[in-house]
Amino acid sequence: MKKLDKTFEIQRHDFSKDRSLRPHSAADEYLLSNINALQNKPKQITIYNDRFGYLSCHLNQYNPNVIITNKSQQKAIELNFIANNLKLPKFVYPLSGYDKAIDLAIVKVPKSLALFELFLQDITQNSTKELTVVIAFMTRHFSPKLIEIAEEYFELVTQSKAVKKSRIAQLSSKKEVRKKDLIDVLQFRNQDYKQYWGVFSAKHIDYATQYFLEHLELKATDETVLDLASGNGVIAKSILTKSPNTEIHLIDDSYLAVESGKMNLSGKNIYHHFNNDLSDFQDQKFDLIATNPPFHFEYEVNINITLRLFKECYRCLKDNGNLQVVASRHLNYLTHLKPLFSTVEVLAKNDKFIIYKCVK
Ligand SMILES: C[S@@+](CC[C@H](N)C(=O)[O-])C[C@H]1O[C@@H](n2cnc3c(N)ncnc32)[C@H](O)[C@@H]1O
Repeated sequence: MKKLDKTFEIQRHDFSKDRSLRPHSAADEYLLSNINALQNKPKQITIYNDRFGYLSCHLNQYNPNVIITNKSQQKAIELNFIANNLKLPKFVYPLSGYDKAIDLAIVKVPKSLALFELFLQDITQNSTKELTVVIAFMTRHFSPKLIEIAEEYFELVTQSKAVKKSRIAQLSSKKEVRKKDLIDVLQFRNQDYKQYWGVFSAKHIDYATQYFLEHLELKATDETVLDLASGNGVIAKSILTKSPNTEIHLIDDSYLAVESGKMNLSGKNIYHHFNNDLSDFQDQKFDLIATNPPFHFEYEVNINITLRLFKECYRCLKDNGNLQVVASRHLNYLTHLKPLFSTVEVLAKNDKFIIYKCVK
């Protein structure tokens, strides 16, 4: 393959204020150098889990398919392509099929190994026999389960030596594996919740959410509600159980979360949104916004995205509408919420979680 000699300026575009957070890692660099060293030019490269576009920009000359798992990822990649004067790549959502069989897939291994397996299944179902998959990860994130999963799908799994605390592995000679149903079913309060592998809280409904739902305040006059960072839709569905005619909007940054929510809730008063901010709601205002907001992004802890969402919540509430938030106590959101809202009260707390009610 031709040496990729051009480098690109990549920004995170995620509102993080922490300057130590970088838009790519040593694992991305290692992956790229390995792709450069491949002898044969692949016909169709497909890139998984490229969070800000470092890999997609550097490999743009091969017209890759770029798999989008998050709206924030899609927006960051678009901005980085535009800033580097590149034509946008082809964005594809997982599990949606491809128009051309993949012969080279590149995977930055995600934190969720269930999502990694979903990627491998997506790749092996849509690829040529000659398929090679190159995966990369930081050595501190390695788990033997990763190789176990890879060996379930491929005869040959060869690991490289570590470079700058990162490692890559090459997977080839794909096996004939029976297609798995990539959906978990969680039970909670006599309801089943379906969710794709890799969607938040795989084994059980999150304990913070369970606590939230014991204390969430819903008024008979609440006509329109937003479940912000909705995951599989458990908060929205619990509200709907109590108040079946309420207009409910669910929004999440994760494509697979939104698709999971669609499996759990539908109806003429239900609206699903795939987005990482509240820009979908320009005129729409809510009586209640309920959220168990994110603070982990893969291996990073970052509350700046959530603080930005809180500001947007204020804009999207009706006068006297309220935002209810459950969080781990140590995050201390109170100092951030107080300057934004007229009143902030603590609805409930225990040794782990706290629930705030913030009135506009
Ligand atoms: C703590 S989980 C809560 C999920 C679900 N509400 C529950 O209680 O199980 C946080 C969710 O926030 C989503 N998320 C992350 N960043 C987001 C953003 N900027 N906008 C909307 N959702 C986001 C994640 O995909 C994840 O589903």
